[in-house]
Amino acid sequence: MSRPSGAIPHHIAVVMDGNGRWATRRFLPRVAGHKQGVESLRRCVKACAARGVGVLTVFAFSSENWNRPADEVSGLMELMVMALGREVPRLLEDGVRLHFVGARGGLSEKIANGIAKAEQATAHNTKLVLNVCFNYGGRWDIAHAAQQLALKGEPITEESLNRALALAHVPDPDLFIRTGGEQRLSNFLLWQSAYSELFFSDRLWPEFDEAALDEAIAAFHGRERRFGKTSAQLAPPGARAQEAA
Ligand code: IPE
Ligand code: IPE
Ligand code: MG
Repeated sequence: MSRPSGAIPHHIAVVMDGNGRWATRRFLPRVAGHKQGVESLRRCVKACAARGVGVLTVFAFSSENWNRPADEVSGLMELMVMALGREVPRLLEDGVRLHFVGARGGLSEKIANGIAKAEQATAHNTKLVLNVCFNYGGRWDIAHAAQQLALKGEPITEESLNRALALAHVPDPDLFIRTGGEQRLSNFLLWQSAYSELFFSDRLWPEFDEAALDEAIAAFHGRERRFGKTSAQLAPPGARAQEAA
């Protein structure tokens, strides 16, 4: 029997995939799809805040996305600079605290400064934590955390690694959504998604609206999260007695 997992997922992670295809289908340059993707993210942030989600973590640019054509990479970087300059007032309005997650080393000074400013400006907000994974890869995250521990001479355990990983400030994602129809992780949150419920949507990211988010949340509610236990172990004592009768 599948028992609903109850409350709204506290932490939702999203691989925002499908921007390029959205643009190509409209005979537009791929970067137009990324622009539309920013609009979709704005809508998703609002919807998550309205539904009581505590943390939204999105994949915006992967360690591997540097391998795309130079004009697309520079278009994405420009878009990030623009978004950093423009979105902060909206985040303040919605009570969103912004965190950038990823290797800062590879980023231009303009982007690094924009990130630092935006993080500082939103640091007091408490309604929703928005983690933007940019120049991020799950393998980078794990290797980087292990390097930090090794530098300090700390033993490497699950707990110490957890504390050194890039998302140490939030609990693991409850719901992991990927849009765009592909059913793979593409190096996103490899460690943290160990027990996340996976939801794959055929919608392209620019078309992922409130109804699509609600569909993902409804699917989450239909899942039974066992964390290695049996169904019977999860049932409250009253329900167990009823099932036996
Ligand atoms: C995801 O959309 C955004 C980034 C990777 C930056 P894509 O650009 O991968 O879109 P598709 O998969 O080509 O449609
Ligand atoms: C994953 O999408 C990265 C982001 C959404 C930022 P990709 O489009 O890069 O993934 P693959 O290449 O299809 O696996
Ligand atoms: Mg893609």
